This record gives sequence, C-alpha cells and structure tokens, in this order.
Amino acid sequence: MIEADLARGAAQKRRPAEDDPGFGIYVHWPFCLSKCPYCDFNSHVRGAPIDEARYLAAFRTEIAHRAGLAPGRAVRSIFFGGGTPSLMRPETVGGVLDAIAARWAIEPDAEITLEANPTSVEAGRFRGYRAAGVNRLSIGVQALVEADLKALGRRHSVDEALAAVRLAASLFPRYTFDLIYGRPGQSVAAWRGELARALDFAGDHISLYQLTIEPDTTFERLRDAGRLDLPDEDLSLAFFRATHELTEARGLPAYEVSNHARPGGESRHNLVYWRYGEYAGIGPGAHGRLVTPRGRLAQACERHPEMWLTRVEAEGHGLIEDAPLTPEEQGDEFLLMGLRLAEGVDPGRYQALSGRELDPEKLRMLVEGGFLERDASGRVRVTAIGAPLLDTVVADVAA
Ligand SMILES: C[S@@+](CC[C@H](N)C(=O)[O-])C[C@H]1O[C@@H](n2cnc3c(N)ncnc32)[C@H](O)[C@@H]1O
Ligand code: SF4
Repeated sequence: MIEADLARGAAQKRRPAEDDPGFGIYVHWPFCLSKCPYCDFNSHVRGAPIDEARYLAAFRTEIAHRAGLAPGRAVRSIFFGGGTPSLMRPETVGGVLDAIAARWAIEPDAEITLEANPTSVEAGRFRGYRAAGVNRLSIGVQALVEADLKALGRRHSVDEALAAVRLAASLFPRYTFDLIYGRPGQSVAAWRGELARALDFAGDHISLYQLTIEPDTTFERLRDAGRLDLPDEDLSLAFFRATHELTEARGLPAYEVSNHARPGGESRHNLVYWRYGEYAGIGPGAHGRLVTPRGRLAQACERHPEMWLTRVEAEGHGLIEDAPLTPEEQGDEFLLMGLRLAEGVDPGRYQALSGRELDPEKLRMLVEGGFLERDASGRVRVTAIGAPLLDTVVADVAA
C-alpha cells in the first residue's frame, strides 16, 4: 500500500550505512539541439558549432578555483548534466575528468554519470564516453508513446529511445532513464501500461517525474490559454500512487520523491545533495555548496554561456553568488533536501547545522496529522500524505 508511506519498506532497509554524505562535482553543459516546451533548465540553442576547446579551458579554470577553496576532498561522484551533455565530444568529457583527477583524489568506486539524449547521433558517442571514464549513463526517454514524444518536442522516436537504453545497458556498468508522467491527456491506466513496459528495460535505477509547468515555458503559455489538458490534484495523486505501487512491486521502490532504485542502485550523486553533503558546481548556471573556513558557502555561476566564459577567462571563476549560509538557512536546506528521501533525516544533524531543535510540539502535530513519521532511532520522514506538501511541512516544522 502506498499510503504506508513514501517507502516504508525501502526506508527501513536503507538507512545510510555511514553518516558521511560525501563530496560530488556537477558539470553543466548548457546546449541543446532544440528547446523542449516544458523545460526551464539552463539550456540554450546555438546556430553555430560550440568552441569546445574554449569551454574545456574554462572548465579547467573553474575546477582549479574550487579545488583551491575545497582542497583534499575525495570525490564520490561526478555528474555531467544539462542541457545535453551527450552533445559534448568524448575528448571534452575526458579532459574535464582529467582536470578533476589532477586536483582531487577520486574514490575507487566513484560514480561518473553523463546525461544523454537518445537520438542515434548521440548514441554513436556512448562508446567514447565509456572510454573517457563515464560509468553510468542517464537517458532522457520521457515517454514511450510516439505522439507524446512529439508533443513534448522530443527529437527521438520510441524505438530510438529504447535502442539507446539497450546500448547503454551493454556498454556501461550502470544506467538509468527518465520518464515524465501526468502528461497532457494521459490517463492513469495508460501510464500504468507504459510504466510496466518501461520497467522491463530498467537496470538498477529509474527517474519518474510528474510533469510540472514551469514559468516562462511554452507549456505555461499553452496552459494559460486553456490548451493543455492537465491532471487536477486528485488525478495527480492517483498518478503518484500508481507510480510508487508499480515500482515497489517490481523491486525499484522510491528512495526519493521521483527516484526509484533497487537496493544499492541509488544515484550516489543525488544522495550527496539530498544528504546535504558538499558539492562543487562547475559551468554556466551550476550551483555548489562547499564547507570552507568562511562557512558553508552557497555558490552559483553565471547562467549565460558566453557571459560565463568571459567571466571565467577574466576572473578565474564564473561565480556570481558566493556567500556563507546562516545556521538557520542550513537547517532549512538540510530539511528540504533530506525530507525528499525515504530514509528521512536525523534531527541531531538538524540541530548541529541550525543551532536549534526541531520544534517538538510542531513535530508531534505533523506526526498526528499523518504528514511525518519517526522511526525507532528517532529519524524523521515524510509520509505519502506529506510528500506532495513537502515545502509546507518543512516550513512548518522548521519555523
Ligand atoms: C536536465 S533535464 C534533461 C536531460 C536531457 N537533456 C534530456 O532532455 O533528456 C533532466 C530531466 O528532467 C525532467 N524534466 C525536465 N523538465 C521537466 C518538467 N517540466 N516536468 C517534469 N520533468 C521534467 C526530464 O525527465 C529530464 O530528462
Ligand atoms: S529537456 Fe533536455 S533536451 Fe529538452 S530543452 Fe531541456 S535540457 Fe534540453
């Protein structure tokens, strides 16, 4: 039963083996072949070829800068996200990995993920990424219905997407793929069928995102014009429950709101974020959190690709935000991240970060209301009822 919670079963089997949340590196590639109508990621379409050598040089400069701020870390995870990193030449990916290895120790079982779009051109580069050191591929499949791929502005067919997944499975030790559900006009019954088929292709991980309408996207304009048939609140909940029920039954329960894995198959990279670890953000629009003598720094890079390049070349880094977080802000971030996880959060760590206790009276009320629960060791986690209201629950319990 989904009501049991976001994953009671998964959560209890999967308490963190150790409390060290680790150190990860996020590298952003900000280009795509076209803009999908639902997407508000920092992605740009350029008519001319990208000067990858210039970007690689700038990535190297940024890496050296962050290594100066956070020396001596062991890298648990590297993630190439986008945009569309599978538009990068494998040599560029290899150059970034070499630059990271020259500045930090990389843990022997480090996870090195690259996000790929499943067009045949990009699939042709998969072998090169593997040779460069990538050991996990994350593929944006989005839908297994041809007409819906069109409506989502995708440039690949269902067959191409599945061929890319098969190729990734044959080349990489680990792979995952993304689907979007709650799409315009989709029924829960149709989604159940589609998800069941998708799970036949799943390895140790799958990401299932409910469609959100983001500001300043084509989908927002279509919705506002009444031209998108979107699920209401009850239907959204039905989609969410069906998703969690099916994945759990197939051995990939949710370990986070939208991410499902077999035990041990969780994304180590995302766990660094959600367990409130340290990460360096490299590239246009990338965000980072580094613990330095100045405190835990909230960092963000210039978003615009060419302006980021110019800034890195002139100043030695692309940061436009680089300020220590207050204890209160750290406590809020820790809760917002950690309560996304089925394993929940340790109230002791909240206190260490924020300098204050979780309000016992508010906690009791949220537990009684069925929004939160505590396990025998005192960890706090969100229930399936609380999950869709995460921001409100966090604001309430932290206030
Ligand atoms: C950085 S994005 C895209 C990666 C890659 N460029 C692609 O399109 O496959 C990562 C994932 O976020 C999801 N996503 C992006 N916008 C979304 C939205 N508005 N609603 C739900 N999921 C979204 C998609 O599943 C996508 O694969
Ligand atoms: S969904 Fe992926 S391919 Fe589409 S615009 Fe966003 S980042 Fe680019």
